[in-house]
Amino acid sequence: MRFEGYRCSACGAEYGPEGERYLCPRDGGCLEVVLDLRRARAELEASGVAVKPGAGGSAWSGEPSHWRYLPLLPVGDPGGRGTPFRAVGATPLYAVPALRARLGMQRLWLKDEGRNPTASLKDRASSLVLARAREVGASVVVTSSTGNAGAALAGMAACLEVPAVILAPHAAPPAKIAQMLVYGARVVLVDGSYDQATALARRASEELGWFCRNTGYNPFSAEGKKSAAFEIWEAWLRGELGEGTGGGELRLSIFVPVGDGNIMAGLDKGFRDLSQAGLLERGPRLFGVQAEGSAAIASAFAAGTESIRAVQSRTLADSISVDLPADGLRALRAVKRTGGAFLTVSDKEILESIAELGPAGLFAEPAAAAAWAGLRRALAEGLVRAEDPVLVLLTGSGLKDVGAAQRATPPAPVIEPTLEALRKLLTP
Ligand SMILES: Cc1ncc(COP(=O)(O)O)c(C=O)c1O
Ligand SMILES: [Zn+2]
Repeated sequence: MRFEGYRCSACGAEYGPEGERYLCPRDGGCLEVVLDLRRARAELEASGVAVKPGAGGSAWSGEPSHWRYLPLLPVGDPGGRGTPFRAVGATPLYAVPALRARLGMQRLWLKDEGRNPTASLKDRASSLVLARAREVGASVVVTSSTGNAGAALAGMAACLEVPAVILAPHAAPPAKIAQMLVYGARVVLVDGSYDQATALARRASEELGWFCRNTGYNPFSAEGKKSAAFEIWEAWLRGELGEGTGGGELRLSIFVPVGDGNIMAGLDKGFRDLSQAGLLERGPRLFGVQAEGSAAIASAFAAGTESIRAVQSRTLADSISVDLPADGLRALRAVKRTGGAFLTVSDKEILESIAELGPAGLFAEPAAAAAWAGLRRALAEGLVRAEDPVLVLLTGSGLKDVGAAQRATPPAPVIEPTLEALRKLLTP
């Protein structure tokens, strides 16, 4: 078994792999999954993933999803064949010339996580948590969600025919709620904040014996999200991230939108797994981007402290609207350790970013656009230079929040169906 157990990210205490485990019983720290990385490396090399050119193939080498990294994941065969469950990940990497020209950058890439089966990066986490849920024989999986984690759990659970219960804030964007319902999950809207929905999901899990997917709380959520790091690494090995990023160092700055901090923690875990397996000498710099009105981790970063204080979150970017981030400490440490930074962006900058990405062919939801706004800030503040290699993680599709998209652009004019009316409109 590659999966050896858990280590607390706060106190370092270790726990065995048996049964369901969430936070460290000693101090409530997030648990990190421990793998036998020597064995994982050997299996990965045999699998045909681009560890080195011409490596032999296995059943997983042609897998067009994040399950191709199964040797580095803490589950066995995940199942779900013939369903969208087996289409999670393997998202495209774009080098958009128009955006490069706008920022005067030569080495800029965008990874479009909106291309996942339920249109956000959260499919990575939900699919891994479900694979684990099956292994521990869970009968029901519950999660709190700002919207995307729930839609992802609903969609992935539908593929595996596992009952799912989603607790989301009443104010979540209608498209996300509709998605959960269409996939057939039991959806309950909480008249309260995301943090309150999170506390309720945890209680329900404890009292009713449901397996809990809550972001950061379930150690397997970060394990799913880390597959984005593997894809970036493999793209780099294949030479798809340009010249000058060679040697053993993946010299890249990655911009990540941050709510709970679990995407950041997952990416960092992925790059650390690769380093510890001897497959990468040095990983990229990680930059976290929070909304000004939901900046608990960014404030701690700016203050130079590890004490993360709850805020009263207020931002139109619902996916990153969190009072007290569940995975704040790991996200903060990941950014510090890799030489990145935390930045904040205003809702106005987020809307401007939606409008800037669209004409380049990219439709981003507010949280995803925040990452782009963060890159603009970092350039303005000299944290990255125009010549640096940069990747922006676009974490969710614009179709998730059409209301925000409408605020980002002027409305379309309405005319009578006559050529005359069209001519009149086109005449300046
Ligand atoms: C599209 C999108 N971007 C970013 C995030 C933030 O991820 P995390 O809460 O792990 O920091 C989320 C979380 O819901 C999301 O859905
Ligand atoms: Zn601990």
